[in-house]
Amino acid sequence: MKGLIPTGGRGTRMRPLTFSANKHLIPVGNKPLIYYPVETIAKTGIKEIGITYNTGQLDLVKQYLGDGSQWGLKFTYILQAEPKGLANIVQVAEEFMAGDSFVLHLGDNIFTAGVNNLADHFRKKKPDGLVGIVHHTENTRLGVPYFDEKGRLVKYVEKPQDPPHDYAIPGIYFFSAEAYKCFSGKDAIQPSARGELEIASIFQWLIDHKKVVDTLEIDGKWLDPGKVEDWLEANMYLLDENTTTKIESKLDNTVKLKGRIIIGKNCKITNSVLKGPINIGDNVTITNSNIGPFTSIFHNCMVIDSTLSDSVLMDSVVLDKVKKDIENSIIGPNTTINQNSHSEHHMELLVSELSKITL
Ligand code: G1P
Repeated sequence: MKGLIPTGGRGTRMRPLTFSANKHLIPVGNKPLIYYPVETIAKTGIKEIGITYNTGQLDLVKQYLGDGSQWGLKFTYILQAEPKGLANIVQVAEEFMAGDSFVLHLGDNIFTAGVNNLADHFRKKKPDGLVGIVHHTENTRLGVPYFDEKGRLVKYVEKPQDPPHDYAIPGIYFFSAEAYKCFSGKDAIQPSARGELEIASIFQWLIDHKKVVDTLEIDGKWLDPGKVEDWLEANMYLLDENTTTKIESKLDNTVKLKGRIIIGKNCKITNSVLKGPINIGDNVTITNSNIGPFTSIFHNCMVIDSTLSDSVLMDSVVLDKVKKDIENSIIGPNTTINQNSHSEHHMELLVSELSKITL
């Protein structure tokens, strides 16, 4: 069995951050989002993963993922020329699959307890399709499974208006090579109203052609940081779950630490209080500040005379003498916020499209 992870798409729900960044590469829990699917697939024992990318993104994606050897994996990069839907991801990977069965793990989904229960079921029972299912209150914006009275999957509908229950299908899909038959012939699957080849259409094709498609509830929690609020929530959850104290920089006795804290290399922290869970990257400077809880600070940031909690600072952010506390905030790379103005009455802002500032 092989793996398949997409890194493309339009990222519209994560704007403005995705104007300049690929959503899959944005850090969550201080690690690029795409690392979670890679690690989850690696844990199933799969060794070869196809990584699809959109035009112009190859060098950037490779910078983060390399050839896969850091996880003991082998990556093959596959061009998806345009973001034409999840079934198109499967379609463009046909040559790479070379007749093998495979699992498609969406690059922006996180399964906190892995997907080994699904992989084991798929290997043992050998259905032509297998989808993970999960209870979800907002399933009108997701794929939804419909069952017959025996609990067999009979219909798979993308974003239905009036679902009969609270089950949803998250982004983890297993297929045998039979799936490739849906792309050709008279009854080949067609783009949906939103102009995309939907993943639901492949499964519906398999069901309609009397192939076996199983469903299985996922283990653990599913995080879907596709939009900004969910992403902030995922960040908090992952910080809480995964932070075990590890301090790799020298600190003096002007720094007070409470709770679980990770501090990377070459950080200069003085005269500050840090309350975990906190994850701080490398080369970070913190002076006269209060940080945490639930805060991640990526590499090369500088925080001076400021108070920050429940927030994310991406690479190379500078917070300098910000007099009000910063909470529930996401601050994009290379942003500077300072309160050095000599006037009490004016502000100077350089803010790009779709930014949100609450004063
Ligand atoms: C996609 C799938 C949907 C699935 C969701 C999970 O939705 O089409 O079936 O439930 O991912 O993240 P999209 O992100 O395209 O709205």
